[in-house]
Amino acid sequence: MKNHWLLWSLFCVGTLAGLVLIFAIGRDGNPRLSDAKDDLPIRKWPRAKEVSADAYQEFLLQVRRNQLMGTVMLPRIPEGTTGVATKHPQEVGIVPPRVCGQCHAELWEEFQQSPHFRTSSEPSREGTPGRYEPPDSRVATVHPQAWFEMVAKPNGFYQQLHINHEGQSYLHEARIDLVIGSGKVGQSFLSWTKDALHQLPVSYFTEGARWGHSPDFDYPEGTFNFSRPISERCLDCHATWFARVPQTINRFARDEFFLGVTCSRCHGLGREHVDHHLAHPNETAPHAITNPGKLSQELAVSVCAQCHSGESELVSTGFRYRPGEPLAEYLVQPSANADTEIDKSIPDPHAASQLRRLEKSACFRQSEMTCFTCHDPHRNERGREKHFLVDHCLKCHQPDDCQQRKLTGAAVDRLCIECHMPLVEYADIRRPGEDSMPIPKMRDHRIQIWPEATTNVLQRLSTEASKAGTKAGVPR
Ligand code: HEC
Ligand code: HEC
Ligand code: HEC
Ligand code: HEC
Ligand code: HEC
Ligand code: HEC
Ligand code: HEC
Repeated sequence: MKNHWLLWSLFCVGTLAGLVLIFAIGRDGNPRLSDAKDDLPIRKWPRAKEVSADAYQEFLLQVRRNQLMGTVMLPRIPEGTTGVATKHPQEVGIVPPRVCGQCHAELWEEFQQSPHFRTSSEPSREGTPGRYEPPDSRVATVHPQAWFEMVAKPNGFYQQLHINHEGQSYLHEARIDLVIGSGKVGQSFLSWTKDALHQLPVSYFTEGARWGHSPDFDYPEGTFNFSRPISERCLDCHATWFARVPQTINRFARDEFFLGVTCSRCHGLGREHVDHHLAHPNETAPHAITNPGKLSQELAVSVCAQCHSGESELVSTGFRYRPGEPLAEYLVQPSANADTEIDKSIPDPHAASQLRRLEKSACFRQSEMTCFTCHDPHRNERGREKHFLVDHCLKCHQPDDCQQRKLTGAAVDRLCIECHMPLVEYADIRRPGEDSMPIPKMRDHRIQIWPEATTNVLQRLSTEASKAGTKAGVPR
């Protein structure tokens, strides 16, 4: 009898402990916030909807058209088994950049600081300067009772949506799995649902060092969207290699992928090159590798145009273009109708087409100029505007080629790009109600005489000169 009681109490304690554990861990295996015990999962929210990648565009349009405030869009869990890479990167012949670094050590060292290398990464404290501590971690919405919360836990970083409604609280939590952008303007975050990739509703904005609503058409005010599918093209511009599961929009092999825009995107597959030079360490003639610097102008700029030609359409599988090939079989460029102005009609204007603008310049048309006449894609060049004057314009021009200089004198010598490649407001990444937010400015790559830019620069010079007590425009 005594034994019975002992067993009973053991059983009771055991069950209780089990229940406590289940509550503490939560259904998805993540520890829950201590204050979250009463939260219902967001699926119980009447306006939560699971949306598949196939139905996404249609559903988004419906939400926008009918202004369905309060809608929470969640990714539908994909059916079937999780995709594994049918072709592994070794088979494809892609080599991780650190392998190239064995023989090109200096370049590899430098390259790790470049925006190309850092344009996609796994999340980390250092990689994203945004703060995970309240109040900075909170992003308000138009509903006072609904907000996003950025949370750092020992096992990773998360975006939470909290909704309080009629005494009931709801919670959704999505893990940040990948970071897109080196952070010049900002960063967006991606999350896996099984093997499907979606963008998260909160992004980081470098201007103001703050979290905010993700930009674009996909994030209408008053809605909460966790289900924007990440297309192959998005990764094609921001990563080296992913393997998409055939016949799907946004499912990728999770076992193997390469982040960052790295060597093989601009030099071709490196496997044969590496194997050859490992086997023949004394050979100094390069074997089986493409140097864009040795290609014709058209093929050389095509290497960059893979990703710097704006909203162009992929007509082949992503990640398949190899430097040295004609680009047209891989990408269809939008027709160049934007003759004098930057084309703002494209739906996602965040990536400029430097090539389309440059192609219209006399500099480009009447010389063998390429993108890397001015840029070193291996380096972090930020804040190095000045070297564009000394090193680049003057490769082909004399300062006195500029009639303006004859009028203004050496005062303009540092300023070639201010007048001939003016900054333009380009990527309007604001949402309604964010009118005070500055629009990021970019260089117009159409190099020509821009009268308005000249007037602005001359005005600035004259203001600076009068402050300094000298007269502007007098040659020294
Ligand atoms: C085992 C040593 C070794 C490794 C590893 C290696 N390379 Fe090279 N690479 C060389 C040698 C040797 C040359 C020829 C000499 C030179 O140009 O420095 C060369 C030249 C090059 C060139 C210039 C080609 C030209 O035509 O001017 C490029 C570009 C290049 N390598 C890229 C890469 C990339 C990308 C990787 C990684 C996929 C890589 N290398 C890995 C040894 C290596
Ligand atoms: C056509 C190529 C292309 C596609 C497709 C593309 N991007 Fe970009 N993205 C760029 C380029 C290039 C830049 C840098 C700005 C520029 O020069 O135009 C950029 C900039 C960014 C930035 C800011 C980076 C920083 O450091 O400030 C973010 C964030 C970003 N992209 C996210 C995305 C996401 C998310 C997708 C897909 C949903 C996407 N991009 C699709 C090419 C692309
Ligand atoms: C975004 C494109 C891009 C990426 C990524 C890239 N390169 Fe290059 N690389 C170029 C271009 C363009 C040139 C030709 C530069 C020139 O001729 O001025 C070049 C030239 C080179 C050369 C020839 C020597 C030199 O310094 O000009 C080597 C070697 C090289 N790259 C190695 C690498 C390695 C190794 C990686 C990866 C760690 C890498 N590159 C990543 C575009 C790229
Ligand atoms: C596979 C796609 C891809 C290719 C190929 C590529 N880029 Fe980029 N490039 C990007 C992306 C994405 C960014 C934005 C990086 C960021 O800040 O997150 C970028 C940024 C840049 C920047 C701005 C750097 C800064 O300071 O913000 C320059 C300049 C540039 N690329 C030049 C080139 C040149 C020149 C080539 C050809 C030799 C080239 N890129 C090829 C994707 C690419
Ligand atoms: C004649 C010189 C020159 C050439 C050629 C050139 N660029 Fe640039 N590029 C610049 C200057 C100057 C800037 C502004 C740099 C800064 O503000 O730090 C710039 C900035 C950029 C940026 C950063 C975003 C922006 O617009 O401010 C990207 C990306 C870029 N260039 C890509 C390219 C690509 C791709 C090509 C070839 C199609 C190219 N550039 C050709 C001079 C050049
Ligand atoms: C690779 C050589 C090369 C480089 C680098 C170069 N240019 Fe030119 N540029 C030319 C050629 C060739 C022409 C046409 C003939 C001429 O006017 O001298 C030209 C023409 C021009 C014109 C007249 C354009 C017109 O529509 O009438 C301007 C302005 C100009 N360049 C400014 C610049 C500036 C500013 C830079 C640096 C950001 C630069 N160029 C870099 C080769 C170059
Ligand atoms: C204050 C603005 C301003 C600055 C700074 C400036 N330019 Fe100019 N540039 C002009 C204007 C305006 C013209 C046309 C003048 C005219 O036709 O009367 C011009 C003309 C030119 C031309 C000749 C175009 C032709 O048709 O032959 C070249 C080349 C040129 N600039 C290059 C440069 C270079 C290189 C620098 C830097 C050393 C520079 N400019 C700095 C405003 C400027």
